Amino acid sequence: MDVRAGRDLSCFDLTSINDLSDDDIKLIFELTAEFKKVGNVKLSLMKGATSFNAFFEDSTRTRSSFEIGGKKLGIDTINIGSKGSSTGKGETLHDTAQTLAALHAEVIIVRTEFSGIPAFLARHVPSAIINAGDGTHEHPSQGLLDAYTMTERLKSIKGKTILVVGDVSHSRVFGSLVRIAPRLGAKVIVAAPRTFLRPGFQEAFGVECYLNVEEALPKADVVVTLRLQEERNAGKCVPTLREFSKTYGISEKRFALAKKGAILMHPGPFMRDIEVHSALISKPDTVIWSQVENGLYVRMALQWLLGVRMDGKKKPYVHI
Ligand code: NCD
Repeated sequence: MDVRAGRDLSCFDLTSINDLSDDDIKLIFELTAEFKKVGNVKLSLMKGATSFNAFFEDSTRTRSSFEIGGKKLGIDTINIGSKGSSTGKGETLHDTAQTLAALHAEVIIVRTEFSGIPAFLARHVPSAIINAGDGTHEHPSQGLLDAYTMTERLKSIKGKTILVVGDVSHSRVFGSLVRIAPRLGAKVIVAAPRTFLRPGFQEAFGVECYLNVEEALPKADVVVTLRLQEERNAGKCVPTLREFSKTYGISEKRFALAKKGAILMHPGPFMRDIEVHSALISKPDTVIWSQVENGLYVRMALQWLLGVRMDGKKKPYVHI
């Protein structure tokens, strides 16, 4: 694994795609490819290190891939959540994170319903903090794996158009994708009901917005479908799920309107026949399972890069 060759990220934590320089993204992708080449093998690059998956919201793929990825690197990985941890007794997340840091956690991976918590913890806790989804803000490891999967399939996404369909308003997956795509030369456009396009949305993110998905599809090299975030009240932004599915759900007929060679993505978990029709799930142009697999290797790269520094620099943080 000399591909890292003493190179380190310019950041100590990953709370947003904006933490990463272009070289950082390149390094993460190179290591991801390297881990993928090695495959399903247990390495001991990080033997003796400790990581905590502190997930205060539900997760299947993100938590499992951080955990398996950590284990493949030789890390002792520990899962904690709101049930069974002292946050349920009223301890603040800051004190919980400080406790995990005192147990010599190299890396703390945090998922929370509150936007901004990982960035706050990053400033106050010496362990490396990885944001595994904070409220409606960002999910940077997902943005990285999405961009990696697009690049793997299309060779490069420079000059390509990525169409994001659905609940862009509550989606942290969108929050990270819209930040990483232009860094790699791709353009993001959106198709969603008006209720998801708050005033200023288009200007804030610099994206073209369409109310009619059929008008947007012919421009798309990549179609990214998103789950309606019902836990964040997104269900109240549409008349019914059935009506959303009829107007925005990606069916075979609709996907055929996208550019030739276009790929279809979903970060999961998907609601079959709501955002994406069942018939499309296992088609060759649908890369949902590659996204899951690549997530494992991206998260190995992140834990290795953030958990072990090779330049000997110490993370600056504020004691409170
Ligand atoms: C996403 C999330 O939690 O933001 N899931 C994931 O990590 N793949 C998307 C979602 O829950 O809809």
